Amino acid sequence: MSVHTEDTRRVTTHRLLEMKQRGEKISMLTAYDYTMGRIVDEAGVDVILVGDSASNVMCGNLTTLPVTLDQMIFMAKSVVRGVQRALVVVDMPFGSYQTGDIEAVQNAIKMMKITHADALKLEGGVEVIDAVRRILAAGIPIMGHLGLMPQSINKYGSYTVRAKEEAEAEKLISDARLLEEAGCFALVLEKIPATLAARVASELTIPVIGIGAGGGTDGQVLVLHDMVGLTHGFSPRFLRRYADLQAVMHDAIGRYVDDVKSGDFPNEQEQY
Ligand code: KIV
Repeated sequence: MSVHTEDTRRVTTHRLLEMKQRGEKISMLTAYDYTMGRIVDEAGVDVILVGDSASNVMCGNLTTLPVTLDQMIFMAKSVVRGVQRALVVVDMPFGSYQTGDIEAVQNAIKMMKITHADALKLEGGVEVIDAVRRILAAGIPIMGHLGLMPQSINKYGSYTVRAKEEAEAEKLISDARLLEEAGCFALVLEKIPATLAARVASELTIPVIGIGAGGGTDGQVLVLHDMVGLTHGFSPRFLRRYADLQAVMHDAIGRYVDDVKSGDFPNEQEQY
């Protein structure tokens, strides 16, 4: 049962489109395991992304590049078990769809068969359009991802705002149209100027979800661990922290350590 919405019907790609059409903003958060997937779902989030940001927040890597297809499958399968209402989208990790459309569709099918997720997300526009078409032709819904694409970080050299220059903005608009024409059901725009994101959202009929892309998109996505304050030392302007769970956990764990050391835990009621 959702905490923040009365509507307990499963979220589908079609319902996201209806939300855009009636001007209802779409909420999206990441999750990488069963427990977090359950909590995020129960709190009423519309879309849960098993993002390849798992590479950073779950595996401790500096970039999203090292996380593997099998690691993403393991996490996605766990999340799906905890979710009753939200649409579960899984990131295809770096290297799983860039090497040719046959391999891309094979990996996409493997992901869907094992995890039972609802949809996949791929980064890129024209460069990956053949793989996108092939996966869509297999009946697998795809969410696109343009703007800052962390899987291309070695090409950019930094995580600064993308598409500030006209040429890159024009390419982004043309890629967004291409992805919509190909049949993607939604698009993520990461870290681009708000005016550009609002323009793309108004031109496309499919929902556009932003992260660091301003308030003119059809919805917002954040990395769960960042917005609940489990990660520290990462404070981009777009990140709003809704809790400081790291402090809550430090306090709880510190008190537990004290209680074990002093012999206060367990007491008589806490034993058999
Ligand atoms: O991997 C991820 O968490 C993402 C979001 C930042 C959109 O792709």
